[in-house]
Amino acid sequence: MERIKLNIDGRDIETQKGKNILEASLEGGIYIPHLCHHADLSPIGACRLCVVEVEGVEGVHTSCNTPALDGMKVKTKTEKTDHMRRLAMELMLAGHPPDCGTCIKYLNCELQSLKQYLVSDHLSVKRRSKLFPVNTGNPVFAQDPNKCVLCGRCVRACHELRGVGVLFYKRKGKETYIGTASDLPLADSGCRFCGACAEVCPTGSIMDKEEFAKGKSRKAALVPCRYACPAEIDVPRYIRFIQKKDYSAATAIIKEKVPFPKVLGYVCDHPCESVCRRGEINQSISIRNLKRYAAEHDEEKLWEKNSNKKPSTGKKVAIIGAGPAGLTAAYYLLNQGHTVAVFESMPLAGGMMRYGIPEYRLPRDILDSEIRDIEKRGVEIKTNTRVESIDKLFEQGYDAVLVTVGAHKGQKLSIPGADNEGVLISLDFLRDINSGKKVKLGRKIMVLGGGNVAFDCARVARRLGAEQVNIACLECRTDLPAACDEVKQGEEEGILINPSKTFTQILCQNGKIAGVEFLDVESFSFDEDKNPQIEVIENSQHVLEADTVIFAVGQRPEIPDGFGLVTAANNLIELDSYTFSTSREGVFAAGDAVIGTASVIKAIASGRKAAIAVDQFLEGRGDIDEKLAPVSEPQKCLGPGEGFASMSRCEESCMLPEERLQSFCKVVHDMDEETADYESKRCLQCDLRLKITPVKFWASY
Ligand code: SF4
Ligand code: SF4
Ligand code: FES
Repeated sequence: MERIKLNIDGRDIETQKGKNILEASLEGGIYIPHLCHHADLSPIGACRLCVVEVEGVEGVHTSCNTPALDGMKVKTKTEKTDHMRRLAMELMLAGHPPDCGTCIKYLNCELQSLKQYLVSDHLSVKRRSKLFPVNTGNPVFAQDPNKCVLCGRCVRACHELRGVGVLFYKRKGKETYIGTASDLPLADSGCRFCGACAEVCPTGSIMDKEEFAKGKSRKAALVPCRYACPAEIDVPRYIRFIQKKDYSAATAIIKEKVPFPKVLGYVCDHPCESVCRRGEINQSISIRNLKRYAAEHDEEKLWEKNSNKKPSTGKKVAIIGAGPAGLTAAYYLLNQGHTVAVFESMPLAGGMMRYGIPEYRLPRDILDSEIRDIEKRGVEIKTNTRVESIDKLFEQGYDAVLVTVGAHKGQKLSIPGADNEGVLISLDFLRDINSGKKVKLGRKIMVLGGGNVAFDCARVARRLGAEQVNIACLECRTDLPAACDEVKQGEEEGILINPSKTFTQILCQNGKIAGVEFLDVESFSFDEDKNPQIEVIENSQHVLEADTVIFAVGQRPEIPDGFGLVTAANNLIELDSYTFSTSREGVFAAGDAVIGTASVIKAIASGRKAAIAVDQFLEGRGDIDEKLAPVSEPQKCLGPGEGFASMSRCEESCMLPEERLQSFCKVVHDMDEETADYESKRCLQCDLRLKITPVKFWASY
């Protein structure tokens, strides 16, 4: 590219041919006030703040649309430019609300910053009020036309940058404002809700609604799906590859953060979906299903080709427990060049994914294939091997130990009758069923608890032939801790939910369980120390019949004494939250044994963090992130969005309830390509906004 030299305010500046004076000046560190200019948009010379004088050319010139030429001599601060700027600024301020202190853009407003730079509070022109109503009727964005200074950035962003073209300059009486054709709501105008307008607006006239930003980092507010994911999977990036039907690249992106894309495609509790911005328009993107579709159609295995195992460090890591946290840590530590062995007390690896989650939710061939991928990379999994002493592992030459034993001990409440025959504990029950053992069940089952484990027990009981299955829990119906799909599918399968109940005793007749006595709960919450606070309704005792009771009221880890680890409440392992190290040097912990029973994705995220900590302990850099998919700049132009806002979510389809109950076959149907394509195209691509060049204020020059 040809280079040119010009002189600005007495300084020689070199720049690329084709730049304008404003760009050349800012590049050279000389600030010229500007407002309608934005680095990603074409210049229009509207605000006239950027005026300069050019030697040998008469008058003042807007520097944002005057080309920088070789040998040019420019003055940015003269009597004329100062006068012109002040006048232009005062005209803008005259029609803008005077009180910055109450504006939510306070201290982030380019106009406010320029006002401080250019003029005093006193204006020589008369103020006027525009009296437009504030428009909060659109999803995601609020618009206050009174704050608009007609810089036109939003219009250019909407037309040039995104190619959507729904914002226009409009007139009402003597005032100009920014609006849609026929002033229709954004959703009816073909808006794609990409947020470019709000991003470039210098004044806060178009802004994200306050609730999106409150208490969140900028990234979490703008790309909520990615930052609500405990492992921070780059959701919009992989959805873009699904749009291009490149499922291998999409899977590779997921694999950059988690080694179990398929498993998560079946069982993730998808916190990303509850915050997805598309949910504000109609329904959130079906992110989990798209993940499953991509992972199950990854034929090229790009992740395998691009994944780089670092040279051997000669260090050995022992991981105790082959659940999601342990296997995740093993995968990433192996990639760092360490030798990794995973010790598992059960006959097969997978932890709660195998022995907790029933097969109809997570087919075992899916789990097996992803565990095999980890083994193929070189992780050794020693099943049927219970570890009782960490000292012995150190004696065997391991340099670090990671404890990921999960929380497999189900609990009973100590109420009368809890030790009767016919009273089962959730995880023992599920473990037996998932290991292929026979379990003696009655016909009328009462599951005590309202979480996913309770629903798993109830749904398994139905598949085993129980005629009547009740779930009773402390929480009210709207606060059930179980995932919505579990509740929905459970009810479809005939499970009766009895919310807001506390259990007082299990009744027995002739040595057999006859029922459970309950009290109705008025209110249920936790105090500051996380102790349950239950208020019951007086005289509300009643009995529900049952011949089998399953406790699903929580689980805790079992930590062998031989580990010598300090534990806290509920037998969770105590950790230094910064280093992930336990009370013993060289011993780390992760997963449910530390955080308590959570979700597969939380356990995986915890395994990733532990892998970073262990690698750093072993003198690595703790840099476990990989780029497994092509890194290319996404297409900035989205094109017209007619009908975009009304595209409805493709819900997961399932087998009919009566068919489901016949076996432990997977319940959900596979998505087809057309549906995956449609669903991926509903995504707003919220991350594109982070790629818009940020504006620098004058104080940073
Ligand atoms: S709404 Fe914002 S970006 Fe659009 S013209 Fe007004 S001030 Fe400029
Ligand atoms: S619309 Fe797409 S990018 Fe935006 S939050 Fe939802 S999934 Fe993420
Ligand atoms: S920045 Fe040049 S005229 Fe507005």
